[in-house]
Amino acid sequence: MDDHAWMGRTLALAAQGRGLTSPNPMVGALVVSDGAAVGEGVHRRAGEPHAEVEALRAAGPEARGASLYVNLEPCVHRGRTPPCVDALLEAGIRRVVVGCLDPNPVVNGRGVEVTVGVREEEARVLNRAFFKFIATGRPLVTLKTAMTLDGKIAAWDGASRWITGEAARAEGHRMRAGADAILVGVGTVLRDDPELTVRLPELGPREPLRVVVDSRLRTPPEARLLKVGAPARTLIACVAGAPAEAARALSARGVEVLGCPARDGRVDLDALLAELARRGVVSLLAEGGGELHASLLEAGLVDRSGAQRCIRVKLLGVLPPGRPVRSLETERPRGRPRPLAPRAPRRTRLWLAGRGPSSFVLSP
Ligand SMILES: NC(=O)c1ccc[n+]([C@@H]2O[C@H](COP(=O)([O-])OP(=O)(O)OC[C@H]3O[C@@H](n4cnc5c(N)ncnc54)[C@H](OP(=O)(O)O)[C@@H]3O)[C@@H](O)[C@H]2O)c1
Repeated sequence: MDDHAWMGRTLALAAQGRGLTSPNPMVGALVVSDGAAVGEGVHRRAGEPHAEVEALRAAGPEARGASLYVNLEPCVHRGRTPPCVDALLEAGIRRVVVGCLDPNPVVNGRGVEVTVGVREEEARVLNRAFFKFIATGRPLVTLKTAMTLDGKIAAWDGASRWITGEAARAEGHRMRAGADAILVGVGTVLRDDPELTVRLPELGPREPLRVVVDSRLRTPPEARLLKVGAPARTLIACVAGAPAEAARALSARGVEVLGCPARDGRVDLDALLAELARRGVVSLLAEGGGELHASLLEAGLVDRSGAQRCIRVKLLGVLPPGRPVRSLETERPRGRPRPLAPRAPRRTRLWLAGRGPSSFVLSP
């Protein structure tokens, strides 16, 4: 195997930390001696050992004279853990191969001789949230919308649960698991009463911070998202002048009520993002609804967005010409449906797009 291939394995190790390492980046490390991997390491959580140290530990004496692959430049400073460069030198590592340099100025370009830039683009993409966080003091904002084929995000009665299928919902849970926080508008809480939890057993226990923008504290204290998980993992962002009684009732549920600067009478989203970053939120998933997304887009705060295209549409019998699909789940029923075919309508489930991870398309 060559540098390219070893770095591929290193990037896969790093990705095991997705959703767990913030405010630190995802890092994997691999010690290679005489053409064989002799130690692997993953940075699993902020405050826990860095990937390089784990890999060196696993390699033991075999690290002497070996090469070390790491997707991000090893640190030379003391943070919550000792500098990795010291550990590399002590272990007798001969060569260090790095995916990309660390944007954190404390680390950048100092302390150890390295080969930089092996699979650099992939290494950058893997930690793009961390790179943005360091550069701007804001989390990477991903906007997610589940959409019907006819471009609607809710049914005629305003409900949006179940407008996609199982594969798309599973993908949604994976996206939540990879985010440090989930953001919704109070309109969605009032309409859909979501839990905003990660409910895929294979993802293990994960609880991204649930954040609601709710200028006037309309979130009902009995809302589902206040009942699930650790209460402290819910934050309700309001503005000055929000009813004190509502703040007391919500705080009594254990959630944090955060007063934010106002913009046009509502929560200033940029100020909220800055505060979340200050608390270590590196990546944020905005899950609707329409008003919140419009505000985020208008303010230029969205880094990437996507619509789930794994769309389930129920078809009713034969469709009239010119209307390829009539989505009964999204249109207001007006009186009795006009018969479209001589026989009784047949309800069919039609999966229109791929399943699994590819069911979600993100802008680059
Ligand atoms: N298909 C999907 O993916 C999806 C996902 C989620 C929701 N939905 C659907 O979307 C609908 C709810 O959406 P919605 O547009 O009515 O409400 P929303 O976007 O969930 O919430 C909007 C509310 O958030 C509060 N807010 C506070 N600061 C804000 C700011 N800076 N910018 C925007 N809003 C701010 C405002 O209420 P205050 O002024 O009181 O603060 C505003 O009315 C429901 O029908 C739901 O089913 C669909």
